[in-house]
Amino acid sequence: MRSYSFTHAITRCPPASAIHGLRAVDTGSPDLDLMRAHHADYIAALKSTGATVVELPALEAFPDSLFVEDTALCLPQGAVVMRPGAPSRLGEAAEMAPQLQALYREVRQIEGAGNFIEGGDILTTETEVLVGRSARTNAGGVAELAGIVADWGYKLREVFTPPGVLHFKTDCSLLDGDTILSTERLDASGCFTGYRVIHTAPGEEASANAIRFNDLVLFPAGFPRTRDKLVAAGYTLREIGNSECAKLDGGMSCLSLRFSPS
Ligand code: GLY
Repeated sequence: MRSYSFTHAITRCPPASAIHGLRAVDTGSPDLDLMRAHHADYIAALKSTGATVVELPALEAFPDSLFVEDTALCLPQGAVVMRPGAPSRLGEAAEMAPQLQALYREVRQIEGAGNFIEGGDILTTETEVLVGRSARTNAGGVAELAGIVADWGYKLREVFTPPGVLHFKTDCSLLDGDTILSTERLDASGCFTGYRVIHTAPGEEASANAIRFNDLVLFPAGFPRTRDKLVAAGYTLREIGNSECAKLDGGMSCLSLRFSPS
């Protein structure tokens, strides 16, 4: 299954400057040591599936650079370097480009000066690429990406991230080829018609950002009712602490790029 079977992942060490990372609501400064301990657990979980994990060094100039997912879209046919909509994050994409060029035969870029798109707004399923317009991803970014992935045989469908939600995938995750974990508020928009949808438990909306990575679902610790639903549905979960990244609106998907390079 090309949407969740991967040979590789890329991560980046949380910089000390992460304490200054972007956040919608200030709930306190992240504890850097705990954040790095959680990050190590995350990398160990990825590696436990047999994948090769490229661990990039911290980039102090970019406080949010641990959230590598926003810098690129990785598909089996090639990678696309994004243009993040947060001005402080724009330079992260250029830092990622050479890493992808070393692993992929084809690397393309979102280039339009007014076009913005972040990987956190992109959910790739077996059949389509869903992109949520958001405060970070605009119509120009979506249109430019649509043209690129069409060359690789993908259908892109534009959807909308709920108001006040950072990224589309803040509220949803792919669990398998036809199953999505979603908050009720996002599913209510109708964007997952045709998919099997499992809802996060009421009050546990922050658990919607998980990742299916080979045989595992990496799932944020602290959401027991949603965890139990997923276990009952037959998924193998690995719970990872996310308390510190959550202070920066980050989650499981944000911390890696996942792919099988061509
Ligand atoms: N702190 C993650 C972001 O706002 O992009």
